[in-house]
Amino acid sequence: MAAKKLHVDGYKTLAKYMDQFDDKDSALIKVLYEAQHIFGYLSKEVMLFISDKLRVPASKIYGVVTFYSYFTTEPKGRCQLKVCMGTACFVRGSEKIMRRLEKDLGIVRGGTTPDRKFSLDSLRCVGACGLAPVMLANEKVYGKITEDDVNKIIKDNNA
Ligand code: FES
Repeated sequence: MAAKKLHVDGYKTLAKYMDQFDDKDSALIKVLYEAQHIFGYLSKEVMLFISDKLRVPASKIYGVVTFYSYFTTEPKGRCQLKVCMGTACFVRGSEKIMRRLEKDLGIVRGGTTPDRKFSLDSLRCVGACGLAPVMLANEKVYGKITEDDVNKIIKDNNA
């Protein structure tokens, strides 16, 4: 019941957010960003809701969502772990960090743990090459990490 109420509240919050825009068409990216912030991902139902409210074709919304890697149509973990695979991080062992995370979390890159605590993915250079290898846990940045740091990073973010 609590999850359903949260769901309904999410749609109300999103509808209120959309109401502030006069030019509905140009608001699409901001609305999608807010919707993902509210729901954690952009489900088919959420995209159809936005399509209806903004009067933007669902096909256009789907096109935007799948074009930008920021948006996701799959539920993600509450903590999103991302390992930088840019050149500086790669040559300093980010692939080993990734493999260790996959092993410790029991998922592969792009996956989410069954309890939805963690998602694991890679990303390109985040502009902190001096700290290579780098990984993110949501907005938190970890630099100069080794395989031995992985377990502590998981524990620190296991909320
Ligand atoms: S290559 Fe990883 S931060 Fe630049």
